[in-house]
Amino acid sequence: MGSASDDGFAGSKVPLNDIIRSMNRVYGLDISGYEPSFLIRTIERRLQATGCDSAASYLAERLLVDPSEAEVFSRSLRVGYSEFFREPLTFALLERQVLPDLMERGRMTGRTGLRVWSAGCAAGQEVWSVAILLDELLASADRLRAWRVFATDISESDLSLACAGVYPAAALGNVRLRHVDACFTRQGDCHTVAMRIREHVEFAVYDLLDTATACPPMCIFGDFDLVLCCNVLIYYRPDQRRRIIAKLLGCLAPGGYLVTGEAERRLMAQAGGVLEVAPPAPVFQATRR
Ligand SMILES: C[S@@+](CC[C@H](N)C(=O)[O-])C[C@H]1O[C@@H](n2cnc3c(N)ncnc32)[C@H](O)[C@@H]1O
Repeated sequence: MGSASDDGFAGSKVPLNDIIRSMNRVYGLDISGYEPSFLIRTIERRLQATGCDSAASYLAERLLVDPSEAEVFSRSLRVGYSEFFREPLTFALLERQVLPDLMERGRMTGRTGLRVWSAGCAAGQEVWSVAILLDELLASADRLRAWRVFATDISESDLSLACAGVYPAAALGNVRLRHVDACFTRQGDCHTVAMRIREHVEFAVYDLLDTATACPPMCIFGDFDLVLCCNVLIYYRPDQRRRIIAKLLGCLAPGGYLVTGEAERRLMAQAGGVLEVAPPAPVFQATRR
């Protein structure tokens, strides 16, 4: 839980702790795991949107008395911004080094499938980006045709967009033209991910902070060759980040790769059990067990 010194509201008599406690007491919602600076920024945006002049009045006059405001506030803590092939350096590394290495390893070890987890996939842009690369690279592979991507997010609404796999042309700005042509079907402005790619992908709601499971239940076991968890860790306090990182590393196959957001490279550098593969791209390889 944040301390009174985490209160970033200048001149306000409401420390962040009061808001955190109230959300828990009144709505049963534990927001104590989020980074205090992120909570403060989010609350400040809600002050502006609601016309409240202080955190005290926002808490007393809106948050505590209006469940719909509490709902909007909690939704705004789930930042769902994403893009296809976001962070181009990372995707270039995936395409040129990580996926070819996994394919080569598959050939050497006789492993017949490739397992990928996109954790915190938002509306699906990350899942489909990696699936597009796999579709192209593995089309000619003899063994690894059984590739599967598991895609999870805590937000049900984002996940249903991801699962639908339908995007306007404006969202495909970072997608190569040959991939747009080969990997989407088009109807007017709507681009839908091709069925042969969708067949390899499964979606499920999953909270990365869930303590009851070591990985999403639909995966049965982890053993992932590649886990992407990009731009999720930054929103959490260090202890929560460590829990998430431990879970992600625990799900990797020996020598498997973990990819985070560029902004999270520094956070990951402190995690044990991984080798940084190619700074500044935040790609890590699990030390072999
Ligand atoms: C900023 S988006 C990142 C999307 C994508 N990974 C990317 O880099 O473009 C963060 C996503 O993480 C999800 N998220 C946040 N906390 C989570 C948690 N505890 N468990 C699962 N997903 C979470 C949010 O719902 C949101 O969709």
